[in-house]
Amino acid sequence: MAALDSTRPSVPKDDDAAIQQRWEALTNVSFWRAKAADEARHPATGAPLFTDPFSAAAAARCVPRAAAAKLEDREPGAGVGLRVQWMGVRTAEIDARVLEAARGLVAVAAEGSSLQVVILGAGLDARAWRLPWPRPPGGRAAVWEVDTAPILALKAHALEGFAVTACERREVACDLTNVSALASGLAQAGHDAAVPTVWVLEGLIGYFTTEDGLQLLHALAGLSAPGSRVVMTSPPSLKDKEEYEGRGITLHHSTFEETEDTLARARRAGWQGVIVTAEELLQRYGVERAQQLLLLTPAEAGGPA
Ligand SMILES: C[S@@+](CC[C@H](N)C(=O)[O-])C[C@H]1O[C@@H](n2cnc3c(N)ncnc32)[C@H](O)[C@@H]1O
Repeated sequence: MAALDSTRPSVPKDDDAAIQQRWEALTNVSFWRAKAADEARHPATGAPLFTDPFSAAAAARCVPRAAAAKLEDREPGAGVGLRVQWMGVRTAEIDARVLEAARGLVAVAAEGSSLQVVILGAGLDARAWRLPWPRPPGGRAAVWEVDTAPILALKAHALEGFAVTACERREVACDLTNVSALASGLAQAGHDAAVPTVWVLEGLIGYFTTEDGLQLLHALAGLSAPGSRVVMTSPPSLKDKEEYEGRGITLHHSTFEETEDTLARARRAGWQGVIVTAEELLQRYGVERAQQLLLLTPAEAGGPA
């Protein structure tokens, strides 16, 4: 992993405590993802679980050395290795599910049409840069990244100089608790709600209250043409919270719940779906710890809720 450079600007210049917490959360993810890109390996083949030179660059530019050392220090014993595995599997599995959904849409898309992908709470996620986005014949692939303005500014610094080549990348600056701002921001940035969308919510919904999360999922359902897909992580559970608190670490999430409860909320918001269970991931990747994912599609009219 690239050496961390603490001399570069890092924390967005904003006194807002919420922005500080968001910065901490996303640099934490970026640090572990950079390490996982370097170290996480498929047990059978020894191949890297995913390819990501961008997270290392982003972490080097945005995570001060002291903050990075603290992140490793708070993982006792085999903790660092487990954390690397956990982030490696989460990244690789989301990559695979998102590309699978994108290829499925492209396979049935009309000539000259668009693949639409929206990454919500994108933080320093570099999928727009690093995934081989498919596109319909004669058409285009578009990736919208939604986050707050200070975080998007931080990202511009973090990934400055790296070209996006496989898609058209667009930014929407908004607070995702304001779903009408999301809808208008996306429309203004060229998203077409009549065309199916792949939505990505990684490490996001837990930062919302259950009500705001429900409202967001409901708004996404309203912006999703048939065929749309959601790939998302669920909030940490109460058990996760207790485990972290036992180690003196405060999680800044607003919601702690079991993945089944997140799926139940998604159903109330107009989605149907399945859980990719931790057991399935542990087996597939040969690791000891993995985070479950949710895969959603718009509920069929008259279908089971
Ligand atoms: C833990 S980070 C995850 C970043 C990214 N999804 C990833 O996995 O690398 C959470 C992200 O969600 C964003 N976020 C949290 N609450 C938000 C809100 N109300 N509106 C917009 N973005 C929000 C934060 O700014 C941050 O970038």
